[in-house]
Amino acid sequence: MAENGGGPVVLSTPAEMRAWRRAHPGELGFVPTMGYLHDGHLALVQRSKQENALTVVSIFVNPMQFGPGEDFERYPRDEARDLRLLAEAGVDAVYLPTPAVMYPPGYQTYVTVEEVTKRLEGAARPGHFRGVATVVLKLFNAVEPTRAYFGRKDAQQLRVIRRMVQDLDLGVEVVPCDIVREPDGLAMSSRNVYLSPEQRAAAPVVKRALDVAASRWAAGEREAEALRRAVAEVVAGEPLAALEYVSLADDVTLEELEGRVEGPALLSVVVRFGATRLLDNVELG
Ligand code: PAJ
Repeated sequence: MAENGGGPVVLSTPAEMRAWRRAHPGELGFVPTMGYLHDGHLALVQRSKQENALTVVSIFVNPMQFGPGEDFERYPRDEARDLRLLAEAGVDAVYLPTPAVMYPPGYQTYVTVEEVTKRLEGAARPGHFRGVATVVLKLFNAVEPTRAYFGRKDAQQLRVIRRMVQDLDLGVEVVPCDIVREPDGLAMSSRNVYLSPEQRAAAPVVKRALDVAASRWAAGEREAEALRRAVAEVVAGEPLAALEYVSLADDVTLEELEGRVEGPALLSVVVRFGATRLLDNVELG
């Protein structure tokens, strides 16, 4: 356990985290992150501060949720800056374990959420949600939150966590939080630093494409394929952007919708700028 110059206490192991929790019983809001914090993360922190007597934030770049050839090694990290931001935000404790502490030699237990992980990011990144569900359960076990805050930016992740919490009787209230965007519409993401200046200038096309489809929806368009095509056409107009997928899916099960769309639906998209994947979505209806 380390004091952090008047800032939040920093806890490095599950045992330290649990000891702190035992000394701080009652209502507690938890914000799991991989660090390199931006205003999207800090909006989750503020929401937790508003709704809970205590707030804990975790910072852990979880190797288990990165595939081979993905960006685990080069994922941006700045622990000192993160701790400064969390001190300013007034969080009570930061849980900052290492990979060796989370996954010691002999580690072999995983959480698999079956159906809702099959499509979209689950299909594009095999094993990703197994890593996410496993680490979030481990974090919940150490922190024992009453509420946990997740961004709608990672819409499928939010649904995977909800399913796990329900299926495993975790008794944690999952609180979804709106997407925080840059002034030009780009959804904030730690990975936005990978973009070259030219790619960054072109990146707002992602939100523009979703907006075009959302306004067609508002005007009464209900054909799934027409809504997906509207997104694809806008993205195709930007030479630096390559559409990886566009999906219009059932809002809960994430099954792809065909024909006329009735109920609430999730319109999501992954657009590549070079090697960088930008993920964004909007809920319709
Ligand atoms: P990370 O990408 O750091 O995101 C942490 C949380 O911040 C997630 O709930 C994510 O949805 C939310 N978030 C990110 N960008 C946001 C934005 N622009 N607006 C609103 N919320 C945003 O997601 C993860 O880490 C990891 O998978 C984790 C859950 C920590 C498990 O390792």
